[in-house]
Amino acid sequence: MAIADIRTQFTADLASVCTDADQKALRDQYLGRKGGAVAGLMKALGAASPDQRPALGQQINELKQHIETTLDQRLASLSSARRPAGAVDVTLPGRVPAIGRLHPLTQLRSRIEAVFARQGYEILDGPETEDDWHNFEALNMPPEHPARDMQDTLYLSGPWDRPARPVGAVRGGGPSGPRVSGADVPHPATLLRTHTSSMQIRYMESHEPPVRVIAPGRVYRRDNLDLTHTPMFQQVEGLVVGEGVTMADLKGTIIGFLRELFVPDIPVVFRPSFFPYTEPSADVFIGCQRCKGAGCSMCKRTGFIEVLGCGMVHPAVFEAVGYDATHVTGFAFGVGIERLALLMHGVEDIRLFYENDLRFLEQFPL
Ligand code: DAH
Repeated sequence: MAIADIRTQFTADLASVCTDADQKALRDQYLGRKGGAVAGLMKALGAASPDQRPALGQQINELKQHIETTLDQRLASLSSARRPAGAVDVTLPGRVPAIGRLHPLTQLRSRIEAVFARQGYEILDGPETEDDWHNFEALNMPPEHPARDMQDTLYLSGPWDRPARPVGAVRGGGPSGPRVSGADVPHPATLLRTHTSSMQIRYMESHEPPVRVIAPGRVYRRDNLDLTHTPMFQQVEGLVVGEGVTMADLKGTIIGFLRELFVPDIPVVFRPSFFPYTEPSADVFIGCQRCKGAGCSMCKRTGFIEVLGCGMVHPAVFEAVGYDATHVTGFAFGVGIERLALLMHGVEDIRLFYENDLRFLEQFPL
């Protein structure tokens, strides 16, 4: 290559020198004793005719010097541009923060709330620590009632300490008893609420009909952890009370709710059941979404899966809160949020929702 071409090529190569290592590589490429461009020229010099040699030699020396000084300058400018130890390199890209998201159960709870809020329901919040009255007695489950065994209760202070109720001190007190406010009634047994049905009582004690509410929240039971049980889980309670509220309203509400939550053509079946606070009562089943009704392990080969309990509010409940059961009727329902989430997402182990494993939680984008 001609001397002038090498010089041009060097200038071009210099433009891409950004680091000390680049600079060293370029130095080797041009000034290296073995294989360097200048060394190549020196070799060629030997073959030149004696009269050309001095002029050619001078040109090669000039080129060598040019390359040396230019590379030295670049090296100096690289080191002066180097940031001092400990300085922050503001040109580095920032760390992208991991964006959080709502927990899948919170997402589902919000969806349920939205469905009912749109229909004019009020959304209630209430205490997770309850007394015996709101969790059991006012819901037509007096002490020793066998239905209390349907839910294994976590007591904070024992019902065994409970003194006898003063005569006539029941709020509402029945048709003949004096009306006493719920707060005046001694209920020493405190417990972690076993269901959100307690919110039915709390709301009706402080509001006159008509009623149209849902109460989402945590509930507690003395259950061991397994695939389908956790000692704490979440429910949504619903309550509608007014003149002329019928079982048809209940069915329409529940069917509409489940269709909106799952798919519009989901089969919904009501089967007679028993709850002390509703009469008649029903368990509600939806068609298994995994096998489409054909029968699989998830629906225990029945094609249907139970999703909630409901019924027409028992007159004894109205009596306990001082409502006139001859004028108003109502319906109520209770649904487990985890259970719906398991079915909706085809998750088989409820514990996954509470283990905070990001690999699981990240599968539920908003
Ligand atoms: N409290 C019931 C449970 O925890 C669910 C339930 C059933 C609520 C029927 C209701 C109802 O309001 O009417 O399993």
